[in-house]
Amino acid sequence: MTNQRPWWLRTLLSGRRQALTTTGWVPSRRAPGTAGADLRILFLGDVLGRTGRDTVCERLPGLRRDLRIDLAVVNAENASHGFGLAPDMAKALFAAGADVITLGNHAWDRKEIIPFIAENPRLIRPLNYPPGTPGAGSVLVTLQDGRKALVLQAMGRLFMDPMDCPFRGTAEVLSKYRLGHSVQAIVADIHAEASSEKMAYAHTFDGQVSLVVGTHTHCPSADAQVLPGGTAFQSDAGMCGDYDSVIGMVKDGAAMRFWRKMPGEKLGPAEGPATVCGVFVETDDATGHARRIEPVRIGGRLSQAMPAV
Ligand SMILES: [Fe+2]
Ligand SMILES: [Fe+2]
Repeated sequence: MTNQRPWWLRTLLSGRRQALTTTGWVPSRRAPGTAGADLRILFLGDVLGRTGRDTVCERLPGLRRDLRIDLAVVNAENASHGFGLAPDMAKALFAAGADVITLGNHAWDRKEIIPFIAENPRLIRPLNYPPGTPGAGSVLVTLQDGRKALVLQAMGRLFMDPMDCPFRGTAEVLSKYRLGHSVQAIVADIHAEASSEKMAYAHTFDGQVSLVVGTHTHCPSADAQVLPGGTAFQSDAGMCGDYDSVIGMVKDGAAMRFWRKMPGEKLGPAEGPATVCGVFVETDDATGHARRIEPVRIGGRLSQAMPAV
């Protein structure tokens, strides 16, 4: 005799733990701290200009819900017309669901952010700026369910402005925490130009952090992997912006700078449909190590990628 019961009733009666969300029936998750529990991280790369801001603010609440995200981190160093971040933009990203916002070499392009960062510890800048720089390079956040996560950012030095050592600075911060014990997850944003420096950084801290993800190049790399020690890694998250551009800026003016080697029109952000770009990571609560890392690319021109959960 064929089973006439609907699929959802068969699933319920089969004993699998399920929960109803706005997007349908999905497996429920183990309670934090119990065996097999996970922590889910969404990291979105450099938000670029109005189209990047609007699209991230529009998409982030749904991504948090559909992927059941525990910790959302957004890089927003280019949110203001490609250069810096204004306080009202930071507030909008926090309101949309960003737990932590990171910056980069464009941290101070909007001067109004200087007093704002001093009062908002969930907005961080690279930890290897000189001593006395406003703000902090890391923040410990308590998640909604009480678990703790550390988010830090370091800036590379290859083809970048001179900075203090990102490796030594990161090691110093990490010496105060123990992954899987005092914190359930650690996210490190390495803001750098060179893939080699980002890979070296990731291997240096493999096993000590849950995720090393690169920002700054604005191009998502295809090297997502869990390293041998248990750290998830992708050398660049990509930008949240219009990819019909030169790394987010209007393409004609940007191309002319390379072609003619003469100053041309002022660079401005491309304002076509944005692709929301980043990574999704699932970690094991007991160790803080990654079980998997998947790229996220939604909307705009890029090939689409959405993790199955
Ligand atoms: Fe940058
Ligand atoms: Fe950037």
